[in-house]
Amino acid sequence: MSQRTVVITDSSTGKSIECPVLEGTCGTPVIDTKHLYRDLGLFVHDVGFASTSSCRSAITYLDGEQGILMHRGSPIEQLAKHSTFTEVAYLLIHGELPTAKQMVEWDLSIKMHTMTHEHLTRFYQGYRYDAHPMSMLAGVVGALASFYHDPTSDYRTDVDHLLTARRVIGKMPTVAARCYRYLSGLPFVYPDNQRGYVDNFMNMMFSWPTERYEPNPVAIKALDLLFILHADHEQNASTSTVRLAGSSENNPFACVAAGIATLWGKAHGGANEAVVNMLEEIADPKNVPKYVSKAKDKSNTFRLMGFGHRVYKNFDPRATIIRQACHDLLESLKLDQPLFEVALELERIALQDEYFIERKLYPNVDFYSGLIYRALRIPMTMFTVMFALARSAGWIAQWIELMEDPDFRIGRPRQLYVGAARRDYVPVAKRSS
Ligand code: ACO
Repeated sequence: MSQRTVVITDSSTGKSIECPVLEGTCGTPVIDTKHLYRDLGLFVHDVGFASTSSCRSAITYLDGEQGILMHRGSPIEQLAKHSTFTEVAYLLIHGELPTAKQMVEWDLSIKMHTMTHEHLTRFYQGYRYDAHPMSMLAGVVGALASFYHDPTSDYRTDVDHLLTARRVIGKMPTVAARCYRYLSGLPFVYPDNQRGYVDNFMNMMFSWPTERYEPNPVAIKALDLLFILHADHEQNASTSTVRLAGSSENNPFACVAAGIATLWGKAHGGANEAVVNMLEEIADPKNVPKYVSKAKDKSNTFRLMGFGHRVYKNFDPRATIIRQACHDLLESLKLDQPLFEVALELERIALQDEYFIERKLYPNVDFYSGLIYRALRIPMTMFTVMFALARSAGWIAQWIELMEDPDFRIGRPRQLYVGAARRDYVPVAKRSS
């Protein structure tokens, strides 16, 4: 079969270019426009990358129309039901599920990297008592770059990528838990390698020096599930940031720190904190219609947090899983959660509303995740830190894929310049006010 192409013609010059259409394993084909500038002297203008593919990737596939999410071909529903976070991390990074032996070795190898250099503990002292833990996380993870920096090494060829992945995944819980401990005035807890990944994280968060801490297995399972559901999500804003930072052949911890900074915003990972703030403000199911009206009012900047997604124009499959998990967790911990009632009512009213139906706005992954964190007694400002901890598996898998990509190039978007045309410098004395 001949290669499918798209012809782009410049109506002002009559010149054309025939661009190949590239087909992936599944999903929307892409037009290869790399010679557009060379042959037609034109760039593509696509604000927010709404129709732009930035890389080839074999890690995560999502179909926003159908509400499908797969990692290395495994549907998220199956991973959520049968897998664990560290197994999903293995899958993202290695491309295959591990054998039983590989799984044991993988878990052990991550445990070998849970400690950080003792000097790193001093970084926390520089933060204000009321710092946001995401600013601390970005700073401390960025600082880790200095502990694993070799100016002579080429990150694409000389650095052991799997060792890098184990370091990032192993250290994130330690660094994250310490943000909380510092802000709470509690002593840091060292990792305990007798414990599993999530158990160890909860121990570093919640244990007291005076007592042995045994987290509730239901809580461990719920957190593990949230970590699975947040582990990777294709070329979202933070992952694209990690790739862009990595494209300048940069230290992986610096790239992850850049991803953390991007994740923090309320339009992205910060939505989980914003959702709970919003539900607290709504406070009662009977107030829901007022807030839905506010979200539809174009003269108001208020949006329903946890609603809408650039790619999903159908239910976010992760939201469906989390909603059920939230319900199960509240039942099993016998917690009365009035905010869950508010969330259910908000979802019910919004999904019947023409505004949300027309724009295909559905609850996203973070609509219910904050309620689970809250039930697990994780403080609100730590919600996005939880997301970052889990997403670090995806970030580092994507960083490795970039480093090993034969098409590797520095990322360098172009622009449509709309500023002043050339004008000569005017000495200050001659400038009119
Ligand atoms: N509440 C009310 N209206 C909304 C919402 C919302 N949550 N989201 C989108 N809309 C409206 C927009 O106003 C716009 O309306 P218009 O066509 O009349 O102008 C239309 O829906 C399309 O919205 P865009 O902003 O163009 O969609 P985009 O793809 O750029 O943004 C985003 C996606 C950022 C997620 C947006 O839906 C949003 O701000 N949601 C709330 C924040 C949130 O939950 N973020 C988490 C996303 S998931 C994640 O990152 C983990």
